[in-house]
Amino acid sequence: EPVRILAISGSLRAASVNTAVLRAAAALAGTDAKVEIWDGLAAVQPFNEDHEAEPGSGVRELRAAVEAADALLFATPEYNSSLPGQLKNALDWASRPYGASVLGGRTAAVIGASPSAFGAKWSQAELRKVLTNSGVEVVGEELCVARAHEALGEDGLPVDEELRAALTGVVTALVEKVRADRAA
Ligand code: FNR
Repeated sequence: EPVRILAISGSLRAASVNTAVLRAAAALAGTDAKVEIWDGLAAVQPFNEDHEAEPGSGVRELRAAVEAADALLFATPEYNSSLPGQLKNALDWASRPYGASVLGGRTAAVIGASPSAFGAKWSQAELRKVLTNSGVEVVGEELCVARAHEALGEDGLPVDEELRAALTGVVTALVEKVRADRAA
């Protein structure tokens, strides 16, 4: 049975390089992983503690999607050296209720893409901090997709072998972690 990986892009943009990198990761994944790209981010309402008892359907769908997955793969843009507000907002919802959230005990990997030479390096660090604080185990190192607007070819796959191997490696790391946890 393939490991179910929920891929969450922090960008809402149709031409997002981060979403495109997740699509490439999905295409490169072998038969031991099924990478599904989540498209519900825009439907997550702004966080408000007053609505915690009865959140809207966007929040409920987020939580259900996280719960149904074996592992999470995030691709985050970098906005002003940090993660985009819409991604932080979704994680704030997912992190509640405190101590009993759908994020507790989850496995995730973080990658990031930017047209700059740094590849969303600082944003990835911030995202890892938020995830770790929410009880998520983040596997692997950061994967900075720099000059991201040139990184993928017409076929949507990485132009260079290094990025191809790195993306495949991220998915493999998640698969191995989930399998090790299952065996434990
Ligand atoms: C950016 N961008 C950006 N890039 C970067 O490398 N470091 C940064 O701090 C910022 N800051 C920033 C702030 C805001 C508000 C925007 C809209 C953009 C550029 C950003 O990397 C670029 O727009 C990416 O293409 C966004 O990712 P997606 O949407 O293509 O996935």
